[in-house]
Amino acid sequence: MPERKLRVGIAGLGLIARTHAIAYQQLGDIVELTAVCDVNESLASAFAAEFRARSTTDLDALLSDPEIDIVDLILPHFLHVETATKALSAGKHLILEKPAAPSYAGAVEIYRTAQKVGVHFMIAENSRYMHAYQAAAKLLAEDAIGDVIHVRTELRSNEKEHLSQPGNWRTKFELGGGLVLDTGAHSFYLISWLLGEFASVRGVGKKLLNIANEIEDTAEVTGSLKSGAHFSSTFTSVSEIPHSERLELYGTTGGILIDQMSNPVVKLFKGQHDYYGQAIDVPFGPDAWHPGGWHFESVLFEVKDFIMSLLEKRAPLIDSRDPVYAVRIVEAVYESIRSSESVIDLSAVTRDEIEARP
Ligand SMILES: NC(=O)c1ccc[n+]([C@@H]2O[C@H](COP(=O)([O-])OP(=O)(O)OC[C@H]3O[C@@H](n4cnc5c(N)ncnc54)[C@H](O)[C@@H]3O)[C@@H](O)[C@H]2O)c1
Repeated sequence: MPERKLRVGIAGLGLIARTHAIAYQQLGDIVELTAVCDVNESLASAFAAEFRARSTTDLDALLSDPEIDIVDLILPHFLHVETATKALSAGKHLILEKPAAPSYAGAVEIYRTAQKVGVHFMIAENSRYMHAYQAAAKLLAEDAIGDVIHVRTELRSNEKEHLSQPGNWRTKFELGGGLVLDTGAHSFYLISWLLGEFASVRGVGKKLLNIANEIEDTAEVTGSLKSGAHFSSTFTSVSEIPHSERLELYGTTGGILIDQMSNPVVKLFKGQHDYYGQAIDVPFGPDAWHPGGWHFESVLFEVKDFIMSLLEKRAPLIDSRDPVYAVRIVEAVYESIRSSESVIDLSAVTRDEIEARP
């Protein structure tokens, strides 16, 4: 138990902020949500009233508020670098929603500033906290499917409303919009966590919705990993099904299928005649199984791991170099899309280069 409760300030009160706030509420013996900030004053006051915090619209003041120990940034992507480096320079512990930043250089700058200042820091990548993916990591470690030769990821969402709002930050690249940045950050983190670094990528971006903005609403990305495995990732924000994810791992002796719209979510197959497969028990908490429960739970666990790892003086489950590396892959995909879908060679790129050099 700390001598006094750790005091948290949240900046950015969009949809996902509520889950972060609930995590702090559930850890009420050790943390207190002290202040919340949003440019939308009525949103900030209502949120503050609900979670018994004080509210402000002054972002700079929140980032250096002497009463706050931990800053939780849940802001539009274009604000990540400026706000994260300000909070870190003010000596705050920092939890920063993915993607680390809209550019790799910005993401590296944030990572290195955190290392230099020496505070507790985490890029919040909820894929690491999804029970289904943790089950996949365990199966791979147990050699349940042999060597993985092909991996597929799929993320489906529905961004019609955001993409139809003129001025919404998600509709402009310069404000950190872009589906590959938003959802590719998850998939490229997941693939490199489970299977290691990327060797090459090729991207195809599409606009399937007839909405006047510059953002791709669907993308296909393929390439190879340094392990020799082939990967393919599909991202779409036009799906008329609930926000959900899929992972397929094909190895030399078996396969794993994970789909958050299926029950059971995780199945292990052993060969072409194994039609039934084996349902893998995934330890869902009180919010499962229902579509969407996995998302709420993973964000809840992620925020709690950040707090508990700070208290226990250990590293969180996420090594923040990995979500920074994911932004490097995102950047390569956009390079491919913008250069007539050419193949981008990543064989010389490693996550180790993210470390600050002396
Ligand atoms: N892990 C996940 O699954 C997940 C899900 C959703 C969002 N996110 C991430 O969370 C972050 C926020 O995304 P979102 O969907 O909540 O965005 P959003 O647009 O819904 O919410 C952002 C909020 O920030 C506020 N804001 C904007 N500028 C501000 C400023 N200068 N000062 C104070 N407040 C300001 C806006 O008013 C808005 O309420 C992004 O990094 C996004 O990628 C992660």
